[in-house]
Amino acid sequence: MTKDKPQGIARGLTNYGDAKFSKYLRRSFASSMGYSREMLDKPIVGIAHSASGFNNCHRHFPELIEAVKRGVLAAGALPIEFPTISLGEVFLSPTSLKFRNLMSMDVEEMVRAQPMDSVVLLGGCDKTVPAQLMGAVSADLPAVQLVAGPMSTGRHKEHRLGACTDCRRFWQQYRAGRIDDQEIDTIEQKLASTAGTCAVMGTASTMASLTEAMGMMPAMGAAIPAVSADRLRMAEATGKLAVDLIGSDRTPKAILTREALENAVTVLLALGGSTNAVLHLAAIAGRAGLSLDLHRLNEISDRTPVLVDLKPTGSFYMEDLHYAGGIPAVMRELRDLLHLDAVTITGETVGDRIEAADPWVDRNVIHEGRAPVRANGGLVALYGNLAPNGAILKRSAADETLFESEARAVVFSSLADLAERIDDPDLDVTADDILVLQNAGPASEASMPEAGYLPIPKKLAQAGVTDMIRMSDARMSGTAYGTIVLHVSPDAASGGAIGLVRDGDRIRMSVAERRLELLVSEEELASRRAARPPAPQVERRGYDRLYHQEILQAEAGCDFRFLVPAPAAAALEKDCLNAAE
Ligand code: FES
Repeated sequence: MTKDKPQGIARGLTNYGDAKFSKYLRRSFASSMGYSREMLDKPIVGIAHSASGFNNCHRHFPELIEAVKRGVLAAGALPIEFPTISLGEVFLSPTSLKFRNLMSMDVEEMVRAQPMDSVVLLGGCDKTVPAQLMGAVSADLPAVQLVAGPMSTGRHKEHRLGACTDCRRFWQQYRAGRIDDQEIDTIEQKLASTAGTCAVMGTASTMASLTEAMGMMPAMGAAIPAVSADRLRMAEATGKLAVDLIGSDRTPKAILTREALENAVTVLLALGGSTNAVLHLAAIAGRAGLSLDLHRLNEISDRTPVLVDLKPTGSFYMEDLHYAGGIPAVMRELRDLLHLDAVTITGETVGDRIEAADPWVDRNVIHEGRAPVRANGGLVALYGNLAPNGAILKRSAADETLFESEARAVVFSSLADLAERIDDPDLDVTADDILVLQNAGPASEASMPEAGYLPIPKKLAQAGVTDMIRMSDARMSGTAYGTIVLHVSPDAASGGAIGLVRDGDRIRMSVAERRLELLVSEEELASRRAARPPAPQVERRGYDRLYHQEILQAEAGCDFRFLVPAPAAAALEKDCLNAAE
């Protein structure tokens, strides 16, 4: 610990023009909470947490916070918890992503403004961990991540249930008329049966795993079930680690290097993880002055096998990954593809962690590199005149027979248009068509919701169709699956070509060539572009106004322009403008 800088309660004093008075006043008010002078003289570990009555995933946080505090106290510092904005995935309108940057600002500013020497970030639900990491990188105070841990699975008849892949599976059956109202009501009560984050390799599990892969939490920290006593021991260990970090140079920017980012991308691909993680990694990287190049993602994807057999693309659940050996076992299998000398928050390198990991592994869940679940990575970026800045396909969740397709577009101009017409018996659509949703990207009124999982039109679902190509500038839940092209950039609302597609146009998708082409002449596209009506003027105030002024596109992680270091923001802006021309 450094002795020359103010520590603990004396850090960053409130300015009254008299530093001694400020310190005296602060100690006096802190004393009102019952702290002794001895405690107030200790260094402080902040615990930034996102517990909320609107966040089911975080309902066990009081117990976890107590365990973190125990670890901090045992290591000789004073723990002080503080709440930040919480983002409970299903409780936010129009979509939680809209508020991720707001939460990141809350975390950054409260970490910087309040007196603490290091911070434990306690989150879990999809957007909370990215927001905490983005804020922590920008604040660059020593920080360590603790996550909620995954929910345990429930049961319905002979079925094992986990939110939320099974939510979608049963809803699809209900839409197709294969289960009735009573059964879907019964299932509703059983899908999310414990505290913790969604039970499959959705966005929350993916981001927890990548946080461990990047070295921002101790080994095994990602997958321990929320309700396990091991999760409490991990919380205690995290508290101790946060004390060890005080005064060290292991700040988020020192840990989140290009090598750490590439390790995270490799693990993401080996997990068959969530498409949302591409956005969040880009945003976290952006805060550190790095970019997530989708061409590089494709290179890594081509050499990285999918090793983990978890839903939504496989068979098992997140709790099974923990008992199978966790992220260290996955990384051991990937060791030839990783930067082993990347340093983690504990001071170990990635190579050290792999060496130290329990050698036992359940091969049903974590496959060997020579017998992978699939030979190449779970995600691939597509480019072309329809997506000059890229689009993402989760190929591990898609139907390979559709990978090389040329088909007719059936276009929905907005989410409202989709809701109105998708189940219309007169909709002119066949299973061979490509459904295109416009105006659901980051710059749209919808603010890039997880609406990219367009429902199969009811008449096709009832005829037994379970998948078809769907594409949009929206996102998809990490727990969803299908041949779904997402994050098409630039989005329709900022002038992207996806907004120029018309019913009956031909679209060509080639996963082999990484191409996504609208087969319409340049002249015709130019005339459609010129004929576009001007964007409606919308009166905005508050955060909504800030969002629409500052939001960047998918390849920049949908961060705000003014939160990214200035040179990186300028480069991203230039790329977006060129692509939208
Ligand atoms: Fe919180 Fe799925 S709703 S992780």
